Amino acid sequence: MKKNKVLIAISILLVVLFCATAIAGGHGKKEKKEAGILLVAFGSSMPEAQVSFENIDREVKASFSKIPVRWAYTSHMIRRKLAKSGKYLDSPEVALAKMLDEGFTHVAAQSLHTIGGYEFHDLRRTVHQFQYPGGFHSIMLGFPLLSSQKDMQRVRDAIIENIPKERKQNEGIVLMGHGTHHPSNAFYAALMFQIQRKDPNIFIGCVEGYPEIDEIIAMLKEKSIKKVYLMPFMSVAGDHARNDMAGDDEDSWKSILTKAGIESVPILKGTAEYGNMVDIWVDHLGTILDQL
Ligand code: CO
Repeated sequence: MKKNKVLIAISILLVVLFCATAIAGGHGKKEKKEAGILLVAFGSSMPEAQVSFENIDREVKASFSKIPVRWAYTSHMIRRKLAKSGKYLDSPEVALAKMLDEGFTHVAAQSLHTIGGYEFHDLRRTVHQFQYPGGFHSIMLGFPLLSSQKDMQRVRDAIIENIPKERKQNEGIVLMGHGTHHPSNAFYAALMFQIQRKDPNIFIGCVEGYPEIDEIIAMLKEKSIKKVYLMPFMSVAGDHARNDMAGDDEDSWKSILTKAGIESVPILKGTAEYGNMVDIWVDHLGTILDQL
């Protein structure tokens, strides 16, 4: 009788175990989790700008060493330009299709944009199209650099930390953001407001949006600032930083400032060249990897 009870107990246990395995297996077959990371930048055709992407690539691989990393550029124009010189970069659509084909089941796509503008929202739609069924078992998109009040504070502190040591308090810092027609352009002025609460001589303008350089010059004159450091507020020090910010053409920010009687010292370093900035993107990536 005792032996029978043991046998019944073992049988029940086996049935329970079988059911649990069947439920865990989902649709009858067990799927192995293959996680991958897709890093998505606007892109740059300038070889000097690659240092930013290499820096991000290195930091991401150091933080998530077991997960394969792929890259994509959202800019059609940059990809076309690079293709002419024999460098073929994937669009997010192509990169994700390739990852699906490679057998990835879980993908963390990380936007390396500065704000959630048109490029980010296009990427969001693309990521959505690769969801289950038909796509990955799980795919998530990480937020760009500036996405929350916490990000604003971290970016503010990182900018202040990255100011050249030789800068004197009565000298200004003028950051060149990209700018956009998208409503998220408001982030630039919002960030300037928050940064000026800590250091009133830091200014943020945009090359293709508000606040424009004329507005910044008016603010510099109100404070009688005679010398500024020009720094890109873009992940790479590419075409905009080298030409529109620091170039010798008469419509560059450097030339416009000189004409207004303000000396400027350009610093050709993109935000992604600074570890404290890259940490913010990497943390956004960490958040979605935890949720995959
Ligand atoms: Co542009």
